[in-house]
Amino acid sequence: MSTFQELFGKEPEASASAPGRVNLLGEHTDYQGGFVLPTAIPQRLTVELGRNGTREHVLHSASSGDTLRVPVGETGNSFAPFLTGCFELSGVQEGMNAVISGKVPSGGLSSSAALEVATLRALRELFQLDLDDVALALRGVQVEHDFVGVKCGVMDQMASSLADTSTMLLIDTRSLERRAVAFPAGAEVLVIDSGVSRKLAESGYNERRAQVEEASRLLGVKELRDVEDVSQLEPLPELLKKRARHVVSENARVLQGLEADAAEFGKLMNASHASLRDDYEVSHPKVDELVALLQAQPGVFGTRMTGAGFGGAVVALVRAGTAESVANAVLKGYVGQAHQIVP
Ligand code: GLA
Repeated sequence: MSTFQELFGKEPEASASAPGRVNLLGEHTDYQGGFVLPTAIPQRLTVELGRNGTREHVLHSASSGDTLRVPVGETGNSFAPFLTGCFELSGVQEGMNAVISGKVPSGGLSSSAALEVATLRALRELFQLDLDDVALALRGVQVEHDFVGVKCGVMDQMASSLADTSTMLLIDTRSLERRAVAFPAGAEVLVIDSGVSRKLAESGYNERRAQVEEASRLLGVKELRDVEDVSQLEPLPELLKKRARHVVSENARVLQGLEADAAEFGKLMNASHASLRDDYEVSHPKVDELVALLQAQPGVFGTRMTGAGFGGAVVALVRAGTAESVANAVLKGYVGQAHQIVP
């Protein structure tokens, strides 16, 4: 018997899943109208839903074993806001039963976007909502802003809703235009979690966001996307100049990456990491250590932190067929709780 049946005594009315994502290039650009290049990871979350005929949502997480009860119209806490936000924004006015299963590892791989996208997909199925995949992603972003309280950009939900595991998805986060881009030939993706939990991620994220918004304002541009060259950043005070230099140079790296072979793409990833570490200051010493260990391995084209930063996972582009041996070699040399996530 499924967990849903055991808990609620009937079958779910709708069920949907959505993947996490790993971003190859284009970090901290998506709230300044820039370019991002994520791909979906194989790990997914599944959400099963059914109406329960009461004024209370009953939300169960199979991984933690927790069951939350939240009155209709309230947000709740813990993992509840991800679901109740989706219910609210989709006009659900009755109690829902929900079971979340599957696992997207923590560490900057967008487990929250996966949860929002899976919930919205299940709601779309159940209530025949008129939502295409982009509108669905944007609703997920709104859940994050209004119910979870994180002022994220659009990348994670767009990637979870639209990306697959076999290509990268170039997203212009201003126009939301997108296209699939092949991975560089002869390469594969390796993701390792550093084991460092992302404690400052929220406060640091909001602070960086405020800094680049201030930089745009001082430069008189709508967003840093509109700055074509880092030389235009000269008038800014030192700290804001560094922050803006990351965003402007990162946008250029994404565009260069579209035509790059594996070796060039790897160099762009290494440069992206240096920029995130030194100019944007969102890396972590243990993440830098993992990146350095990876960079020293034969077969590694390039590597960088991925996601918001302050700990979490690193992504590497490695010679096809070598991911396992590279991961084993690196994990031997690393002191900490790191583990391989992809492949
Ligand atoms: C988090 C946010 C995204 C993006 C990344 C950094 O994952 O949710 O919108 O800003 O950080 O690139």
